[in-house]
Amino acid sequence: MPFNNENDLKDVMLKYSFAKKVLETELSILIDEYEFNNGYNPVEHIKYRIKTMESATKKLAKKNLELTVSNLVRYINDMVGVRIVCSFISDVYKIVDIIKSSKQFIVKNESDYIKNPKDSGYTSYHINILVPVHLFDKTEYIEAEIQIRTVAMDCWASIDHKLRYKLPSTIPEPLEQEMLLRAEEMLDMDKKMDMLNDLLKKYIN
Ligand code: GTP
Ligand code: MG
Repeated sequence: MPFNNENDLKDVMLKYSFAKKVLETELSILIDEYEFNNGYNPVEHIKYRIKTMESATKKLAKKNLELTVSNLVRYINDMVGVRIVCSFISDVYKIVDIIKSSKQFIVKNESDYIKNPKDSGYTSYHINILVPVHLFDKTEYIEAEIQIRTVAMDCWASIDHKLRYKLPSTIPEPLEQEMLLRAEEMLDMDKKMDMLNDLLKKYIN
């Protein structure tokens, strides 16, 4: 089923692509500046994407919502998505600080799924922001979802995503239990890696 208004859809998709461009530039400036001031880059790698129409359509259907542009704007809060992957949990919180202290974005909401993992075992720090896009005659604020996590959390989330994708509906209980155990082990290892990093600092300072 196509969207109700093709022109409105084109307009909104263009604005998402502008917001992605602004975010790429602003975030890389903030991170480069942090590295310049601290001699250290807390980012392992970073990925920007615009959600595909196929995936947005599926998400609206899952939420039992009509395929309209206004529903897309209102209920799909990750059309513009950024995933920042770090080596250490402490780096995740450094990035959170950098984003929240920046005057460039408006923080809409945030969820610390590292302190409070989801029932699935999923861990990550999510921040939804509004990105100002300066157009010819007005400024529009476009939402973007930033997911910040460690390499280990990223590995878990990617496997979890694959499992869910392969299965016809919900994850069977035994598989879910196994994934929960892996999540606990992963978080435990991440915390030990943070301790190792603290130890390392004693040798290099
Ligand atoms: P959405 O409608 O999906 O945005 O739900 P929400 O806003 O209640 O959830 P949230 O913003 O906390 O999480 C949204 C995104 O986090 C998803 O699109 C996934 O990328 C990721 N995520 C959340 N939970 C899980 C999970 O259990 N497993 C994996 N692999 N990813 C998850
Ligand atoms: Mg969300």
